[in-house]
Amino acid sequence: MEQKKQGFSGSLGFVLSAAGSAVGVGNIWRFPYLAAQDGGGIFILVYLILVLTFGFTLLSTDIAIGRRTRKNALEAFASIRPKWGFLGKLTFLVPAIIITYYTVIGGWITKYIVVYLTGQGSAAAQDSFFPAFISSPVSPIVFMLIFLAVTALVVYLGVEKGIERFSKLVMPGLLILIIAVSIYTLMQSHTDADGVVRTGLDGLAIYLIPNFDGLTLPRFMKILLDAMSQLFFSLSVSMGIMITYGSYVGKDVNLSKAIGHIEFFDTLVALLAGAMIVPAVYMFSGTDAMASGPSLMFVSLPKVFQSMGTVGFLVALAFFVMLEFAAITSSVSIMETLVASCMDVFHASRKRMCIVIGAISAAAAALICLGYNIFYFELPLPNGSTGQLLDVMDYISNSFLMPLISLLTCIFVGWVIRPKWIVEEITASGHPFKRRYLYTFMIRFVAPTLMSILFLQALGVLR
Ligand code: PHE
Repeated sequence: MEQKKQGFSGSLGFVLSAAGSAVGVGNIWRFPYLAAQDGGGIFILVYLILVLTFGFTLLSTDIAIGRRTRKNALEAFASIRPKWGFLGKLTFLVPAIIITYYTVIGGWITKYIVVYLTGQGSAAAQDSFFPAFISSPVSPIVFMLIFLAVTALVVYLGVEKGIERFSKLVMPGLLILIIAVSIYTLMQSHTDADGVVRTGLDGLAIYLIPNFDGLTLPRFMKILLDAMSQLFFSLSVSMGIMITYGSYVGKDVNLSKAIGHIEFFDTLVALLAGAMIVPAVYMFSGTDAMASGPSLMFVSLPKVFQSMGTVGFLVALAFFVMLEFAAITSSVSIMETLVASCMDVFHASRKRMCIVIGAISAAAAALICLGYNIFYFELPLPNGSTGQLLDVMDYISNSFLMPLISLLTCIFVGWVIRPKWIVEEITASGHPFKRRYLYTFMIRFVAPTLMSILFLQALGVLR
């Protein structure tokens, strides 16, 4: 059955949906702990420069390819140059892998909402709570299925009636919530057992003021690479998602402006999340807890909420609800990319593809959940870390495939079809593309160099 091409109703719908995809677990969880680990203000500064140059280049590329070809990720490259069809297939692999674990993390967040709603906040503040939960056989799978079902429902409702309407509803809400909670935490202060008083503003200083202590070239390189890989993941670029969303944008939309707004929204949420989490963790648990890395969200933060007393419960609930919204709109964009591509390839209806892809994703995600009990292993990864099934999937998609795809996309646009092809599309609505020279320079020279370094580092060739 041939489907009529669906689309966003206008610029606002597009910007909020794309921001919905971009703003996710990456902004609220990963950005703050990376910033805290990587010298606060230095990381932020590097990140901001990268967003405006590198992030903007990759985002513009994906969106313009989508709008100009009007094709999903899987077919877009082949429709421009048949020989480059392999790049579409490679790109399609990324959301196919990410959905298997993003829904698992979505399930964990859903679980924590239930935990706080049912008054088990103090239990969650125990060290053993989170490991016990994720290694239990049934519960993580059930929560993953709930999360996946909501995602599939939004995708099933379609681009305008599902994705756009949902994003227009939750994105402004998320922004208000995050501003409110960060103002609240910044106004707090806490006296610990030794009588040391720490205020939220002290924490803010740690977060924002660059810490140059012991800054060496290798350390700076690490900060740069951390910021770069964070940026990709955060903007949802190089995984076909922004190509798919770009294909739903009307020709009259001012792309240059819309891209600026998406960058702004995504960065603002990341910065605010840091301004909320870093001071909170600093006040209630000291600087050491910030070094906890990935376990921050589910292990350290519940302790912080616990020490906040009664309001801690409300803050915790607000936090996990916020995270849930952010995660659903991201997971929707991953599923939409898979569904839209398969609808075209198999000439099937949206409903049918939602069911088929939903079922396959559920089965794969269940396997990932079992990676914490029956399939438990500890695998050393080429980049030096050790991981379980979920981390392996994350490594393949984010550390390995994404830099590779970005590199190939930069070569394709910069040297095969030429940047002019993208510039033409961005200016097609009659609006100017102010950063066109920056774009051309970035896509031909800077981005491919940086991507090669990132890729070699992921392979363990560069440390
Ligand atoms: N950009 C999202 C985030 O910051 C993550 C994401 C990854 C979304 C992949 C879609 C696809 O969390």
